[in-house]
Amino acid sequence: MKTRITELFGIQHPIIQGGMHYVGFAEMAAAVSNAGGLGLITGLTQKTPELLANEIRRCREMTDKPFGVNLTFLPTVSSPDYPGYIRAILDGGVKAVETAGNNPQKWLPMLHEAGVKVIHKCTSVRHSLKAQSIGCDAVSVDGFECGGHPGEDDIPNFILLPRAADELKIPFVASGGMADGRSLVAALALGAEGMNMGTRFIATKEAPVHQNVKDAIVAASELDTRLVMRPLRNTERVLRNAAVDRLLEKEKALGASIKFEDIIDEVAGVYPKIMTTGDMEAGAWSCGMVAGLIHDIPTVQELIDRIMAEAEAIISQRLARFAAS
Ligand SMILES: Cc1cc2nc3c(=O)[nH]c(=O)nc-3n(C[C@H](O)[C@H](O)[C@H](O)COP(=O)(O)O)c2cc1C
Repeated sequence: MKTRITELFGIQHPIIQGGMHYVGFAEMAAAVSNAGGLGLITGLTQKTPELLANEIRRCREMTDKPFGVNLTFLPTVSSPDYPGYIRAILDGGVKAVETAGNNPQKWLPMLHEAGVKVIHKCTSVRHSLKAQSIGCDAVSVDGFECGGHPGEDDIPNFILLPRAADELKIPFVASGGMADGRSLVAALALGAEGMNMGTRFIATKEAPVHQNVKDAIVAASELDTRLVMRPLRNTERVLRNAAVDRLLEKEKALGASIKFEDIIDEVAGVYPKIMTTGDMEAGAWSCGMVAGLIHDIPTVQELIDRIMAEAEAIISQRLARFAAS
């Protein structure tokens, strides 16, 4: 299946694995790229630019296919060494970068000069148009369903994607709620050129996270996520657990006066405890509503092959039946 996204990144299938904190290690990115998609190492999970450089080297040992790096510009407790991370990306010969969280304009000239293609993740048409105007090569349009940070507009993909299609000239992928061949065909029908998946890729054999995380996603339904940190305008969709319930109680009790320090126990330093140790009550961790569509833990290759076979069958059989002959 050729789309503007497969052409842009030189990949076989129009499927991207979104950056995921403490999931997007070299093993994850390489597995996705080896299966014909675009795997992404999560830059900030590596604590220093040197560690990112090493992770890029490790990934290159595991795949000769294109892979990328996610760089997230989010409010973090201490400001990361972004110039150093960019240098590691350029020196590592990486040709695809997913930016997210804030405007990447400052970094585009350096990246483009080195031939890096930049896909910016946006949760609104407004931000997608901005990304286009500053010269991003593509956008990942992330609907309200998504795991992680859906922004503050709450527009689901059934509306957001066709709105993006009406406005954008650069190609975009659908992100948030994507799980299978049906998702891919729907995304294409709504104007996207492929799809980005987060939560679905965690429930795979190669995902380098604790088995408890994969089991929690398989056990969860579409009803089991919650939005936290909305009063801080840093909304995050997470899997419900005892810590999330506690956090929401605090949000209710403190109202508009809540500060980040009030919820630090439930949100800071949680990812290694969840993803590495498998302590599923350690705090709030990102997970999409799409958990309701995830019922197994295949290899990444099985997952991507299944998605592509299903998508092609839907297009050539089910949808063909509806076309006027
Ligand atoms: C556990 C987890 C961690 C994530 N961490 C990041 C991150 O560090 N940076 C980022 O840009 N997106 C992050 N995301 C968002 C994903 O890249 C992707 O946009 C999102 O998961 C898509 O929605 P889906 O989960 O419904 O597929 C994360 C998502 C999950 C589930």
